[in-house]
Order: sequence, then structure tokens, then C-alpha cells
Amino acid sequence: MDLETFEQLLTAQGQTLLAEVAARAGVESDLGLGTRLRKTYAPGLVAAAVTQNHLRGKAVAKFGPDAARMYFTHDALEQSTRMSVATHRAARLASHGGTAVVDLGCGIGGDLIALARAGLRVRGVEMDPVRAMIAAANLTALGLEGKVLCGDATEATIGPDEVAFIDPARRDARGRTFSTADLQPPWEWVRQLLAGRAVAKVMPGLAHDAVPVGVEAEWVSDGGDLVEACLWGAPFATAARRATVLPSGRTLLAHGEPAAVADVGTYLYEPDDAVIRAGAVSELAATIGGWLPDPHIAYVSSDRLDPTELARGFRVVDELPFREKPLKAALQVRRVGTLTIKKRGVDIVPEELVRRMKLKGPNEALVVMTRVQGQGRALLVERL
Ligand SMILES: C[S@@+](CC[C@H](N)C(=O)[O-])C[C@H]1O[C@@H](n2cnc3c(N)ncnc32)[C@H](O)[C@@H]1O
Repeated sequence: MDLETFEQLLTAQGQTLLAEVAARAGVESDLGLGTRLRKTYAPGLVAAAVTQNHLRGKAVAKFGPDAARMYFTHDALEQSTRMSVATHRAARLASHGGTAVVDLGCGIGGDLIALARAGLRVRGVEMDPVRAMIAAANLTALGLEGKVLCGDATEATIGPDEVAFIDPARRDARGRTFSTADLQPPWEWVRQLLAGRAVAKVMPGLAHDAVPVGVEAEWVSDGGDLVEACLWGAPFATAARRATVLPSGRTLLAHGEPAAVADVGTYLYEPDDAVIRAGAVSELAATIGGWLPDPHIAYVSSDRLDPTELARGFRVVDELPFREKPLKAALQVRRVGTLTIKKRGVDIVPEELVRRMKLKGPNEALVVMTRVQGQGRALLVERL
């Protein structure tokens, strides 16, 4: 979609067309609807309205009911922050006393919207003219105040009361990238900003040693998906590393303390990926009165039943043989026909092992195959 077509979509005629597409999509075929509308509207405008309606449907997963009033491009929607995560960040920034933000590379405004809703004064800078106009239109559509400039963020002046927020583009021509070297605006520039009142969203695979000194890295998961690492510039940092689990908002600081190591107890806990990435598994053990069955494996065990948003819990029902033949025999005795294997730190391929054992029977089972103080173990567990 070019700038001119998007401008037309915002006119009264464009809005009438969008409303008609929304009302008729799914009732008429895309082809029939398009053919009929092209008798009244320019073909390019009809195509843009049909695409916009489709993108609004896709965007519900990230933006909920607001999506029906917002505008997107396919790539910018992919790159935008889901509202649950943006809202968490905006609330935290407001709680740190932030009152104004300049979003340097604001895309279609996912973060900008959440920041404005949290009561901050917002300003966006975006180098892509269509995205810049969309971000401004999205603020207006949702009844929010804020300005968006089209330009190079690296040349923008940051006001004395403004916090800089940067969510650099993480895609190169080949798709998703996991390297800070491919970020746009560039990582080196982001790093420099983080020495001051700045916050940056980066890929969750960021290595611990890439986090600048004095900056807090917050790994965030939402509904079990590890979605990002958020870097909090020195004035906002409260720890070196932190895990935050949404939607609950439970948060855990990593202090780097060593955890107790002991054999598996009554319960086994599988830490959320944010806890693992933040290196806060020992701290999770401490919060639930637990320990690590193996110092190198991200499982926590405890004799205490302590459901926590920070981990998935299992009751250890029995211990089974680790080797394949006796394991199969033990499962046959239990008449297990449907087996799920979770593995961590052992060299097996669960699907292949399940297939090879050719189990038959009416019962289901969940087996955790892992290492406990260096030894392979198979634990029959039940989800809590
Ligand atoms: C990951 S997206 C931002 C998504 C946004 N946080 C959201 O939730 O919708 C990054 C954006 O930065 C923009 N960008 C990259 N380099 C830029 C620069 N030097 N100046 C301004 N914008 C830039 C890209 O065009 C892209 O839209």
C-alpha cells in the first residue's frame, strides 16, 4: 500500500468502503465483493480496503477488539509488539516516573498506543512514510494523543523529559535474525542510548554478555511464549536480570546465587522459558522451597505443592527404568498405549523412542527423561 492509497483510505469515502468490506466479507466471496466494489471505487482503493480488513482480522490476536479500528501493513503487523506485553512495559515505565516517551522506530505504533494509554506523552519517529502515517492514524482511531514524525530516528533530538524507547527491526532480507549486528536502528546506537533514560526491546535470544553493564535485561513471556528481552537503561535498572511472566505479571530477579542440589522429590517444576533465559532457575527453586535435581538442567524439584505462574508443575508418581527395553516392559505392565515423553539434558528423540516401543493399551502416561546429578532417569509424572 502506498502513501496516497492510505490517505484515500482515511477519507470519508475510504471509510465508507472499509465499513462495507467489513460488513460483507465472509458473506460475499472476495472475488465477487471486489468486482462489485470496483464499479464504484478505484481498484487500488478496493484492494487496500480488502487487505486492511484481512489484516484487522489477523491483528485481533495481538490487539484484541482495538484491531477493528486500526491500520496495518503485513510486515509491520508481524513486527509490532502484542498489546499485553506493550501494556506491561508501559505500566512499568510509568511506575518508574516516566512521563514522556519518544518511540524511535515506532512502526505502526503498537508500543506507542500502550505508552499513551498508560498516561505518558508520546511522540513517534519512523523512517517508513506509510508506517509513520499509520501510527498517527492508529493513535487517532483509538482516541489517543501523540505526534508521529517521518524521519531517521538516529538523527532525532530527544527532549530532556523524554525517555527514548527503541524496538529495532529484527528482520533482514532473509527473515528473522538472531544477531544484534542486523538490528535497525543499529545495536551500537541502541547500546549508547541505554546508558541514559532509554528502554529497548530486543530478541529473547540475546546473550547475557551482550547486555550492557548497568542495564537490566527483563525476559518476558506471555501465555507461555517467550516473546522478548526488554533492556532497561541504567536509571531504571533494579537488577541485572529479571523474568516476567504474563498475563499474571509475576516477576523474579536473578541474583546468580547457587541453588541446592538434591535428588528428585515429590514434585517436579519446569520453569517458564523467561525464567530459564533470565538465568533465574535457582531463584525459582528458592521461592518454592525447592532444589535442582541436576545443577546443569533447568528442572526444579520440591516436596511442597506450590502452584506458581513461573513454572509448570508435575507430581512425581513413580520412577521407571531409563533404558529402552525395561522402560517398555514397565509401561506395558501399566497398559500404557499413549505415551508423551518430555526430555531435558539427555540424548534421546522422544517421538522416535515412542514409535520404536510400539505400545498398546488403554492408558496414557507422561514420562520425564532427564539427568539427575549426571545419571539418566525416567520419571512417571502427572500434571498439576
Ligand atoms: C520492530 S519495528 C517497531 C514496532 C513497534 N514497536 C510496534 O509495536 O508496532 C521497528 C521499526 O523501526 C523502523 N526503523 C528502522 N530503522 C529506523 C531509523 N533509523 N529511523 C526510524 N525508524 C527506523 C522500521 O521501519 C520499523 O518500522
